[in-house]
Amino acid sequence: MSAAVFLCRRTPLCCRKYILNLGKNQTQIDFTGRTVISHYKNTPKVNIFHKQTPFQFLRKWYPWNPKNSRIFGQRVHSTVAARIESSIPLNSQKIVGKWLFGCAGMVFGAVILGGVTRLTESGLSMVDWKLLKDMKPPSNQEEWIAEFERYKTFPEYKHVSNQREMTLTDFKFIYYMEYAHRMWGRLTGMVFLLPAAYFWRKGWLSAGMKPHVLLLSGLLGFQGFLGWFMVKSGLEEDIDIPRVSQYRLAAHLSSAFLLYVMFLWSGLSHVNSRQMMPKTLQMLRLRKFSFGVTGLVFITAFSGAFVAGLDAGLVYNSWPKMADRWIPSDIAAFSPKWKNVFENPTTVQFNHRWLGQSTAAAIVTLWLVCRKAPLSPRARTAVNCLLAMAFVQIGLGIGTLLTYVETPLAATHQSGSLVLLSFATWLSHELRRLPK
Ligand code: HEM
Repeated sequence: MSAAVFLCRRTPLCCRKYILNLGKNQTQIDFTGRTVISHYKNTPKVNIFHKQTPFQFLRKWYPWNPKNSRIFGQRVHSTVAARIESSIPLNSQKIVGKWLFGCAGMVFGAVILGGVTRLTESGLSMVDWKLLKDMKPPSNQEEWIAEFERYKTFPEYKHVSNQREMTLTDFKFIYYMEYAHRMWGRLTGMVFLLPAAYFWRKGWLSAGMKPHVLLLSGLLGFQGFLGWFMVKSGLEEDIDIPRVSQYRLAAHLSSAFLLYVMFLWSGLSHVNSRQMMPKTLQMLRLRKFSFGVTGLVFITAFSGAFVAGLDAGLVYNSWPKMADRWIPSDIAAFSPKWKNVFENPTTVQFNHRWLGQSTAAAIVTLWLVCRKAPLSPRARTAVNCLLAMAFVQIGLGIGTLLTYVETPLAATHQSGSLVLLSFATWLSHELRRLPK
């Protein structure tokens, strides 16, 4: 049995204690619906409403009218609403939430490290994949030389050595970059799996969370597999330019983004109390809009992976036009036509630019719509951060293009996309439906 508890800011300490007790040991209390404790002026000290939705309760005491959304915004949504799973103490839920945020942070770190590995052309330096053996890098000169000799038999070395000489020191640098990325991936797995097992055993994972944890474990494993699958595509003999397949890079990056969003969403659900929003058509539309914007940010990031995979940031380094034209002449040079979307660097860059710019336009529109909506303070902060980050991200994208993909700028642009996605996810989370 679960119930939602609403506790207003003015609730005196005795009742806060009561709520905590309620959280810790729900069986003490005999109720079936929602318990509402409020100390607003006209409300009785403790109200217990059975089978009454929070909105019904709020409407009863604070009839909503767009004009007094300030009242609604400031007083009613300061109510803390926490969904308490039976028998899981609130404190434990917070710990689980912090762990999930930690996992999201680890995935964030892996994405940055992966981006820098790719931008420094280090990703193909480790030419095989072994779960345990990979964990120990070469430890003496002979082992390093043997590893370098192995690398020399693969196409990337041949390609690089045609342009410049590669020394053992250069090789050690690219090897350590890839090594750090792989080890970070393993560490992320540990940071997720070990506490997951502990929390499961302790009974701190709710019934709904358990399948989610299994899904996340599967996705983490799949992420590792996709990483190696991607690297393998760059080690094949029969490719002209030794670089990984843009399809596999996009799959690897978007699956990391998906993992990140899932961790972040679950973390927010554990840590953030729900703030009240009116159940109106306007809010329903706003929620859909916010979800749409989150999806658009995701799709733009996905298209960015194709730009990165094809080195399409090195063609048409001008903005806003592409070589004095709005639509470049070679945009449909490949045949069949659909191939242009994924394989023609010009088209891939064109699509990414316009997707990015449209995403920013959608975010500005969302922000304007939100100005008139009775949002909670947290949702308002989220939408303001989203708007600011959209401008930063567009600036970083243009900068990356104009500087012919300078590594620090490109890496910041990549992490910027995750920050933007975080704000969009946070806003959608704030606008999510209240429990029935
Ligand atoms: C909402 C806006 C945007 C998002 C979320 C976004 C996201 C991304 C992502 C995820 C990548 C892949 C990075 C990597 O794997 O290294 C990327 C690459 C890139 N983006 Fe964007 N982008 C946006 C807007 C723009 C704009 C407006 C431009 C230029 C006008 C731009 C130019 C580039 C370039 C040149 C690259 C390739 C960098 C490289 O090779 O590493 N982006 N973008």
